[in-house]
Amino acid sequence: MSIHNLTLNADVMAEFNNIFASYGLDLARYKPAFIKRRLDRRMRILNISDYSEYSHTLKDNRKEFEEIFASLSINVTNFFRDSTVFDRFQLSILPKILSDLGGSGKIRVWSAGCASGEEPYSIAMMFKQAIGKLPNLEVEIIANDVNKIAIQFAQRGRYPAKSVESLPPTIISNNFQKRTTDNNTEYEVVQAIKDMVTFKVGDILSDAMQSFDVIFCRNVLIYYEKEAQELIFTKFYKGLKDSGYMVLGMDETMFGRRCQKLFNPLMARERIYQKVLQQNN
Ligand SMILES: C[S@@+](CC[C@H](N)C(=O)[O-])C[C@H]1O[C@@H](n2cnc3c(N)ncnc32)[C@H](O)[C@@H]1O
Repeated sequence: MSIHNLTLNADVMAEFNNIFASYGLDLARYKPAFIKRRLDRRMRILNISDYSEYSHTLKDNRKEFEEIFASLSINVTNFFRDSTVFDRFQLSILPKILSDLGGSGKIRVWSAGCASGEEPYSIAMMFKQAIGKLPNLEVEIIANDVNKIAIQFAQRGRYPAKSVESLPPTIISNNFQKRTTDNNTEYEVVQAIKDMVTFKVGDILSDAMQSFDVIFCRNVLIYYEKEAQELIFTKFYKGLKDSGYMVLGMDETMFGRRCQKLFNPLMARERIYQKVLQQNN
């Protein structure tokens, strides 16, 4: 039987879920078709044609476990990903946040599903540029991800030259320090930017964090079933301050009529939303 025809039934799913749950990855809420594609790809590479055999392989083979874990938690990202979103945020939303604060106070931002750190560092760079001359304003960015390896990489803050090559030269010179060792060149995020971001290993579905002015959750929800997405939107609603902002990925839409009542689309193309205050709040 070809792998394509194998069924990912409830027992098999439970087996894989047990393996990943202790590492903070809750597969139960992922779209089954997405999980199947990822498992099948690795099984084809290893020439394994049975899910049960593959689940045993994962218990014994650390390297393979890391491969599939990374594949399931997909952490592809880059600095200023979809730069038009950052441009529009900087132009239209950020000045509003600053003016609402009246020149002093703390701005809290959550980068939910931050992968290897490029997103929260980009947010820090954008805010730093905007508040550089306002000494009484502080920006605190909390960035979390289920993938411990991605968080460790993010905390180190060192990126290969390729990661920064398409950034404007001023962004590079203001925010990175070039490090060359032997034949290897890396760009390290400067300490002032690192200090703005706190990284945590954590699951959006179980972490309860509050009082944010903005939540960025980009290119994370696409892998989740509708019910999980609704749960996450409800969490974000509670996690935002009154009239706070939520930014999704360019390919993500908000499901469900209930959720649509919670947020107002401010910039439809860039997926920038604002929390709607409910009458009974
Ligand atoms: C494709 S990356 C997106 C990174 C970044 N937000 C961006 O748009 O460039 C998706 C990240 O979401 C993380 N992720 C998936 N489910 C998560 C959850 N429930 N809680 C926290 N992080 C999650 C994955 O580990 C992965 O690093």
